[in-house]
Amino acid sequence: MTTQEITTTMRAYAQDRFGPLTDLELREVPVPQPGAGEVLVQVTAAGVDPSIWHLVTANPRMVRLVWGRWGRPKWPVPGWDLSGTVVRVGPSVTELSVGDRVVGQARGTFQEYAVAPVSTLVTVPDPLDLTAVAALPVSGVTAYQAVESVQPGPGKRIAVIGAGGGVGGFAVQLAARAGAEVTAVCSAGKADLVRGLGASEVIDYRATDVTESGRTFDGIIELAGRRPQGALRRLLTKRGRLVVVGGEPTGTEWLGMGRMLQATLSNPFVPQHLHGLVATMPKETLQELVDLLAAGDLRVPLDRAFPFEEAVEAVQFVRDGHPHGKVVVAVGG
Ligand SMILES: NC(=O)c1ccc[n+]([C@@H]2O[C@H](COP(=O)([O-])OP(=O)(O)OC[C@H]3O[C@@H](n4cnc5c(N)ncnc54)[C@H](OP(=O)(O)O)[C@@H]3O)[C@@H](O)[C@H]2O)c1
Repeated sequence: MTTQEITTTMRAYAQDRFGPLTDLELREVPVPQPGAGEVLVQVTAAGVDPSIWHLVTANPRMVRLVWGRWGRPKWPVPGWDLSGTVVRVGPSVTELSVGDRVVGQARGTFQEYAVAPVSTLVTVPDPLDLTAVAALPVSGVTAYQAVESVQPGPGKRIAVIGAGGGVGGFAVQLAARAGAEVTAVCSAGKADLVRGLGASEVIDYRATDVTESGRTFDGIIELAGRRPQGALRRLLTKRGRLVVVGGEPTGTEWLGMGRMLQATLSNPFVPQHLHGLVATMPKETLQELVDLLAAGDLRVPLDRAFPFEEAVEAVQFVRDGHPHGKVVVAVGG
């Protein structure tokens, strides 16, 4: 094992049971050791997205079944996305070395050091800001897959509903880059943000109900607002494509995927293409996004980086629903 001198303990947020965000405690815990195929990353930043609130609070309830064991979280430290520097390399790892700057995923990133499988990590070229890059995995890759699913191209009209958030900020850019005419549906205060990302039209959903606007689109990416599927279909052209990615619940849910399932299950029965997306995290897609950032063809729509000591506030800020783009937690490094 290749190593570098580091402390034996670190700070990590952890929870012993599912519950409110205030149950997350900042603790001193041992620094973990990487196993075969893994590296230890000194975390520079951790991405924040709505799923962190869902997993900490077990809402939807099925989180207890999938992420729980005897009523306790299987993984006590929250967070998926990380950026940082490799400080230890586990046995049989040849792809990465100590000192490499990386971005990717781990189980538990709200901690100063995290063990990450090499299979999820991509190296980050020097000029890129490691803190901002932590925004890429969940939100960037989800946006990439959502945009792919609506097949944008020159002359196509694509609506992104929830355009001013973490996923939407990337989706607007990727759809516009593919040549589509992008309509961003968001609150008025984000009009400048989404126009700057490539939207040619902005609809303030608080002033105008997009489903009553008489507009039609070749593709709709549904990220927020939970508009009924029938209303969204009326916005689509005859062979238009709808991808349902998200939309936050106001109360407690059991499954949390009802609208995605509804879209996918109704697909064979309608002329339009309806699809619920459950994003996967292929390393190739993350690599493509890092390459686009490095080439200056994509930018991270970063709202702010919260200090590590305010990580709980960062999750609540995203839960409250109105970040301008993406939020990360600056852990250290
Ligand atoms: N299926 C998957 O694999 C997957 C992966 C990642 C995320 N998601 C889900 O996708 C959704 C979006 O994620 P995110 O990270 O982008 O969340 P986010 O950063 O909170 O962004 C959501 C955006 O929607 C806007 N919004 C709220 N109500 C709206 C409405 N009625 N109409 C239009 N826009 C509205 C909010 O801002 P304003 O109201 O200020 O405009 C906010 O910017 C979440 O539900 C998340 O859980 C799913």
